[in-house]
Amino acid sequence: MQEILNKIFNEDVLQGISRIPDKSLDLILADPPYCLGKDYGNDSDKLEPKEYLQWSKQWINAVIPKMKETGSFYIFLTWQYSPEIFSYMKTKLIMINEIIWDRRVPSMGGSTRKFSSVHDNIGFFVKNKKYYFDLDSIRIPYDPETKKARTRSIFVGKKWLEIGYNPKDLWSVSRLHAQDPEREKHPTQKPLKIVERIIKASCPKNGIVLDPFMGSETTIIESRLLKR
Ligand SMILES: C[S@@+](CC[C@H](N)C(=O)[O-])C[C@H]1O[C@@H](n2cnc3c(N)ncnc32)[C@H](O)[C@@H]1O
Repeated sequence: MQEILNKIFNEDVLQGISRIPDKSLDLILADPPYCLGKDYGNDSDKLEPKEYLQWSKQWINAVIPKMKETGSFYIFLTWQYSPEIFSYMKTKLIMINEIIWDRRVPSMGGSTRKFSSVHDNIGFFVKNKKYYFDLDSIRIPYDPETKKARTRSIFVGKKWLEIGYNPKDLWSVSRLHAQDPEREKHPTQKPLKIVERIIKASCPKNGIVLDPFMGSETTIIESRLLKR
């Protein structure tokens, strides 16, 4: 394991996964191509739907044995193929959440023959109910005004009031605008803020994260910052 820790491998996902020992990963954070024809500088997002679903099953099957018993597997998808992929993963793992990432797309026209799509679907899966989950590290503190408004006597002393409330499954985090200092030249770069919450909640300090589809390195940057 030591020889592959803290390293970036520029290679096909299936080749890379085969080198990882079984039951070694605390967290798999996977953001694969979505079968939407995005340009990643290669043809990886240009598969036919049938081929894409077959390939998705192949890498998902390869990576599951690498999870620790307490490990978690998050997968970023879009509405087009999340139903099929989530259904498949539910035959192998326990689904804990579907998180909706609301990309906070500004309202300026948009689709004219359907509703404008402004969200991603993030599936959160585990192997068994003993999975690691650090709620306190991701609590959202109240601003003083809201906190004051909640101070009815029955709430006083409640943990959620004192140190913050439990995040919900709708995450409103702005996508990265072209001018954002975090922004790299990548068509589907994820904000660090999204990845930060996942890592804090689902990987202990010094734990091991695998990102099988690294793109602009979001997961690596955040894992280093958080000492995973
Ligand atoms: C959705 S993007 C990941 C974006 C990343 N999460 C970020 O924040 O920048 C998917 C990435 O997977 C890469 N990819 C596609 N097919 C792959 C394969 N077979 N093995 C490894 N990486 C692959 C693509 O080149 C692309 O960079």
